[in-house]
Amino acid sequence: MRESVAKRIVREMFYKECVAAWLTLDEIREGSILTLLGEEPRELPYIDDIGFKRHQVKSVENDWDTFALQQQMMREEGWGVSLYSGEMVDYLKIMLHKHGRFVVLNMDIEGSYRNNLDPSMTSVVQFCCDNPRTVVGTYSTIGRSIHPVWEGIKGLSLLMWLVPDMVRKLLAAVSYGYSETDCTQSVRFTLRDVFWIASQLEHMTQASVVQGHIQRSGFDRFNEAYSSLWDFVMSHPHKTLRVKGLFDVVQWWRNEEPVLASHERLPKIPIRITKLMHVYYNARPPWSQRCFFCMYEVRENHAIAVQSVLSNLCRMFIDQRFTYVDRGGSRRDFDLACASTKSVHRFELWKGSRMYDSFQSRKLKPGVYRGD
Ligand SMILES: C[S@@+](CC[C@H](N)C(=O)[O-])C[C@H]1O[C@@H](n2cnc3c(N)ncnc32)[C@H](O)[C@@H]1O
Repeated sequence: MRESVAKRIVREMFYKECVAAWLTLDEIREGSILTLLGEEPRELPYIDDIGFKRHQVKSVENDWDTFALQQQMMREEGWGVSLYSGEMVDYLKIMLHKHGRFVVLNMDIEGSYRNNLDPSMTSVVQFCCDNPRTVVGTYSTIGRSIHPVWEGIKGLSLLMWLVPDMVRKLLAAVSYGYSETDCTQSVRFTLRDVFWIASQLEHMTQASVVQGHIQRSGFDRFNEAYSSLWDFVMSHPHKTLRVKGLFDVVQWWRNEEPVLASHERLPKIPIRITKLMHVYYNARPPWSQRCFFCMYEVRENHAIAVQSVLSNLCRMFIDQRFTYVDRGGSRRDFDLACASTKSVHRFELWKGSRMYDSFQSRKLKPGVYRGD
């Protein structure tokens, strides 16, 4: 399939500006890379250039025809990589942990982050706790699915509860970034990003339990309060839900449930994201893709409150320039910190009853590796 020019630029960005810049040459030479090569091995020149050995390249593919094509090309062209046939989520839950030397997880899957990657992110974070020098790429194709937007509204309620001042800045910053692109739905796109941020916090908290850094009860308290908050939001529908309206419902819940809502009850976790680059590019209409490139670390003696972890992540998201690649392949980097929060309260998040009637939010499933 003909690739979009923007995709080529972003692929190069990932390898040159993240992998080669964040890892040492020795780490690359000694390490493995997990990727999805797809129909054509377009990544291999970059992988070779920055110093990976071919036998350290592991590729996952769930489409049988594409996998057969890969096998054929591998024989004919002598790729020398390792091909795995199956689902990425399965690989991430089990195989990843059998093979300790990954320094890059490039999970370039078209489709929504919610369905394809989120179910295995606790496992990924857990892996990164043991292997902190790992560059992780997650992707979400922005198409017609409305579920990531609804997940974003749910995530927004979490942010309004835990980091109310920061969330205004985040909304202003990210929506400003989108408004500088050819995107015509900047609030909707921003909500998808809010989902990614909230999901990171959930997975880092859950990974903290699995890794034994916090008690299970700490995660349960977090989850119990978040579920109560979301049930409350869903049982107080608005015909037109705006940022101001959602803030009001969250505040109402805090007044009704002061014990559950207390920040003091929440766990302190030692995991955080240390590096981040986020990119938005236009592929073929009507698709565009959001890419998040990051690294995690665990600082065992420096556990901090989940709300501080969240606040720091939002800060990083704002401080990091918003990289945009348009359909013609031109790149622009926007400074988000200058965005004004003035009109944020009026942002329309959702109109109508559909979300209240039909949204089943995803449930965190353990999906984590616990050893043999
Ligand atoms: C976007 S392409 C990879 C492109 C490649 N990274 C590049 O830069 O050219 C994704 C590939 O992963 C496969 N795929 C999609 N979803 C998958 C999943 N859940 N598990 C495993 N493979 C998947 C697709 O069939 C496709 O061949």
